[in-house]
Amino acid sequence: MSIVAFNNTVLRDGHQSLAATRMTTAQMLPAAPILDSMGFAGLETWGGATIDSCLRFLRENPFDRLRALKKAAPRTPQIMLLRGQNIVQYTSFPDDVVETFVKANAAAGQDIFRIFDALNDTRNLATAIKAVRAAGRHARGEVCYTTSPVHTIPAFVQMAIELEKMGCHSIGIKDMSGVIAPRIAYDLVKELKRRVGLPVTLHTHDTAGLGATAYYAAIDAGVDAVEVSITPFANGTAQPDTVRMLAMLENHPRCPKFDATKLLQLREYFTNVYKELEKFTSPANERVDSDTLCYQVPGGMLSNFRTQMKEQGMTDKFAQVLAEIPYVRACLGWIPLVTPTSQIVGTQAMLNVKFGRWKNFSQPAIDIALGKYGQTPGPIDPAVLDLALKKPGAKLIDHRPADALAPRMPKLREELAAAGLPTDDEACVLHAMFPQEFAALHKPPVAVAKPASPGVVPANSVTRYALTVDGRRTEVLVDELN
Ligand code: CO
Repeated sequence: MSIVAFNNTVLRDGHQSLAATRMTTAQMLPAAPILDSMGFAGLETWGGATIDSCLRFLRENPFDRLRALKKAAPRTPQIMLLRGQNIVQYTSFPDDVVETFVKANAAAGQDIFRIFDALNDTRNLATAIKAVRAAGRHARGEVCYTTSPVHTIPAFVQMAIELEKMGCHSIGIKDMSGVIAPRIAYDLVKELKRRVGLPVTLHTHDTAGLGATAYYAAIDAGVDAVEVSITPFANGTAQPDTVRMLAMLENHPRCPKFDATKLLQLREYFTNVYKELEKFTSPANERVDSDTLCYQVPGGMLSNFRTQMKEQGMTDKFAQVLAEIPYVRACLGWIPLVTPTSQIVGTQAMLNVKFGRWKNFSQPAIDIALGKYGQTPGPIDPAVLDLALKKPGAKLIDHRPADALAPRMPKLREELAAAGLPTDDEACVLHAMFPQEFAALHKPPVAVAKPASPGVVPANSVTRYALTVDGRRTEVLVDELN
């Protein structure tokens, strides 16, 4: 077996997982040429929550960030994380918007697209895969890893075979919560390598302390690439650190070579950046989360959940609500717990405990039951489906969610022109996903940010929570489960 490839995630998942996605382009650029010179197979720099964060918190144009990074690191392919039909948002967009996004992104320098769907419904990946292929770029089809009675190795392999047929150039195992056990990683990679004729990448998080060992096992099984970060934007809820992985692999025939001096240089550099972002970091994200191991619920979800429970005055019901999560998941077809489904399941579990099972059926949970997000991995519990169908206006959706959406590009261009904003493809796709934030980018800065409202998270903001840090309330982007 050949040397294993390392992709580096410090400029995307590293700070998304450990510093609320707040690293600025200015903080990235000095490190980019060093990262570019080291032999990483790819640099993950874009997508996930970075676009939202650029617009909402940093007042940066995300496409300008990509162009700047491409210029500073021209040799190493740049990777982005794309939520299939949701692009980098939480609802489906029409095909023409997805196609335009991919085209504009490829033109700005994106090389590799990691494409996933929270439900593992491959229909939600089809348009993005086609668009990436049409742009002559690399489409990596991601299989979201989770544990449930329907998430078996044969089921994951079946999905990967489908992704291969759909034209993906490689397969990714996306373990957003860091729950893949080393032996399972080994068996899954072995089976994927045996049954699918494509390179396989494993992406995990070290939340539960399993990440580095899972990589080691996957490397033994023949995985082609694993994704690592740079300390202190590594380990904990982020990817295992590069230095640590190299130490683990010493004498391993597949161990890659990286310049130790440059790694030290990067560590020193990012230690300063981490200090600059201190108010967005938390010791809870840096340590092995034994609660995750006890409750089998992703770490990022647990920490946000505690805040939500506190706001609801339900701290004493924590264990009860956690015990309700597997029940809600089972009723909703064993959906993986990843943004936004983790928030939907968590909130419904809380409502079930507070008001009695399904007495207060949240709209996003109803939408899951009715197929609005796509096909769930397992069937919806018949009694729960009946309840959902009794809601006013309820309609079962058995087609691909985006099939019901009319093209939107002409309208987006018109809206931008009417507002006196740029009307190019980049402007259109950003306007489609973040209309207010995109418009604000072209206006003078607003002095006071709107405070986040407490209470049960409404349907349209399932991804945002209010969090108290050092006695101050801040709004945080809850998107670390990617
Ligand atoms: Co991730």
